Amino acid sequence: PTTPQAPKRERNFVKLMQQQSRQVVIFYGSQTGTAEDYASRLAKECAQRFGVNCMTADIELYDLSYLNTLPEDSLVFFVMATYGEGEPTDNAADFWEQLVTDEEPQFSDGGEDLNSLRYILFGLGNKTYEHYNAVARILDKRLTKLGAKRIGERGEGDDDASLEEDFLAWQESMWPAFCEALGVDENSAQMGPRQATYSVEELESYEKDDVYFGEIGTKVKAGAKSIYDAKRPYVAPIVSRELFKGSDRHCLHIDIDISGTNLSYQTGDHVAMWPTNNEDEVLRLASILGLTDKLDAVVMVKAIDPAASKQYPFPVPATYRAIFRHYLDICAPASRQSLLPLVEHAPNDTAKETLKLWATDKDEYRLKVGEAMRNLGEVLELAAGGSASASGAFASVPFDLIVESISRLQPRYYSISSSAKETPTTIAATCVTLAYQPETSPERTVHGVNTNFLYRMHLQGQGQQDASLPVYDLAGPRQAYLNAEGRSCKVPVHVRRSQFKLPRNTNVPIIMIGPGTGVAPFRGFVRERALQKKDGKSVGPTILFFGSRHSQNDFLYADEWSDLFDTLGAESRIITAFSRETDHKVYVQHRLEEHGEAMWQLLEKGAYIYVCGDAKCMARDVNQTFVSLAMEYGNKSEDKATDYIKSLRNIGRYQEDVWS
Ligand code: 2AM
Repeated sequence: PTTPQAPKRERNFVKLMQQQSRQVVIFYGSQTGTAEDYASRLAKECAQRFGVNCMTADIELYDLSYLNTLPEDSLVFFVMATYGEGEPTDNAADFWEQLVTDEEPQFSDGGEDLNSLRYILFGLGNKTYEHYNAVARILDKRLTKLGAKRIGERGEGDDDASLEEDFLAWQESMWPAFCEALGVDENSAQMGPRQATYSVEELESYEKDDVYFGEIGTKVKAGAKSIYDAKRPYVAPIVSRELFKGSDRHCLHIDIDISGTNLSYQTGDHVAMWPTNNEDEVLRLASILGLTDKLDAVVMVKAIDPAASKQYPFPVPATYRAIFRHYLDICAPASRQSLLPLVEHAPNDTAKETLKLWATDKDEYRLKVGEAMRNLGEVLELAAGGSASASGAFASVPFDLIVESISRLQPRYYSISSSAKETPTTIAATCVTLAYQPETSPERTVHGVNTNFLYRMHLQGQGQQDASLPVYDLAGPRQAYLNAEGRSCKVPVHVRRSQFKLPRNTNVPIIMIGPGTGVAPFRGFVRERALQKKDGKSVGPTILFFGSRHSQNDFLYADEWSDLFDTLGAESRIITAFSRETDHKVYVQHRLEEHGEAMWQLLEKGAYIYVCGDAKCMARDVNQTFVSLAMEYGNKSEDKATDYIKSLRNIGRYQEDVWS
């Protein structure tokens, strides 16, 4: 049978720009959607403030070897996120190979340089990681080397501290440089009335089968065989059990069944789960926008510009309910710049003033919105004077503005905690529920979106309730369903490959450091090595440093380790650090130091080091501890020891899977 071919996309962006009279193209390398959002925002400014016709472009969709055929009066933006260990995002991988890692890039017209290219560059990174903004920095160097000319300063945003503010601050000097480069009069620029990106139409009649109620990716006809991937996740049955239950946090082990699909995984990969927003927030936002009675109305949302690279913000037509529950990240803190266009819709002068203050004053914004983790619904509610007066208060906000103001709801990633050799069709994840009181507004509890959803579903499956948890409603395609054991529901998932991999040779010793849920991939690693040992393979020393608060409460997989390490033999062991059992903190790095000499000997035998968990404190401290081991037992100066650990990283013998 022939499969229908997708219409061929034009990969020559220069041709496309000419056809559509666009002077500027904004490429983005985006993993979780932030760089993409930033690109859209730049495009909007570019068009609205300066009247310059531009397009945003997913860098994956175009052939960048046409870069040197651009007319000289055009301009290219790169908005590039750095990902993982200083790597480009998935959608920038091909571009990276073609233009950056390839020593002699081939250009479409046979040229060898980019002498006529002018570009503007903003990088998104995170200072808690080793290679801060590596992608933007390397790209900048590379383009310069190829003869291109950068316009303005290179911008760098730090997601750990102040990404949004960095982005705004960079624009202050960037736009004048941009205007100069294009010969646009900066002073004549003005904010005209807002121009909508999307049109919104409430549909009177529609085929129910065409409507999206929460599905991710295009719908598949019943019975048709599907290929599942990041764009079309598989709605997988899950089974959960509680690993521990504390007063303030709980931890679930989740088994995700991918049998009967094309999905596969490798030990050390990540599993993505697409979350559902809680019903309290869905109803709050709907109420403020005056949409409570219309939640089941079906709307079509699409780009006004028929040539825009993104025609639909999410699957459409969809109900308002599905949009709030499944498609928009309505629980994320509202961004500062999204507040300004809402000011004119505020119901009274006080609300106007309040919103305007938050939109324009960095510190006020941080206090009341950013650090307080208030989502858009909460911000509008507070501005309107509290929930009692908020119903319908912002009913005049056009819905397309809401679509533009809130990012698309993104999947959440978890390090897989099973071994693909042992359970190839069941993926395990280890999820600790996140709920905390923001320092600047401690009277509120902020709930992690996906983990609380999973926990609530888990309880529901057991016929239990917990009034302190947010409420979820899963009518529609993600209908919770109970299996024979009475505890299961479905979650859309896909697998993301990672570089975090066991050495191919099973004899190589490994040292793993994974406190808390950082132990997840190491459960997979240890199980895999034990299995290999049982299969008669020779397996090298396997050392796991695990840390948690108490041995009796949050010691993850406590009942599994002794059998596994018995199988692995005398040279392998788990070394624990319980931080709240003594009057002083004992952390994994302290244990590592205690066992320093033995660990150094393993390193000299070629051991691989793996670190998983908190990036900011733990991973840094562990790195420093290894440096000090190299000084003490390897007789190295501090500089030499630091270089030594760096070199282990470069050759893949020091791998991290960390988050902040
Ligand atoms: P604490 O919460 O008692 O400070 C898993 O979260 C374990 O990691 C906990 O025992 C936690 O201890 C510990 N932990 C906290 N900060 C750490 C750090 N900087 N390095 C290593 N472990 C840390």
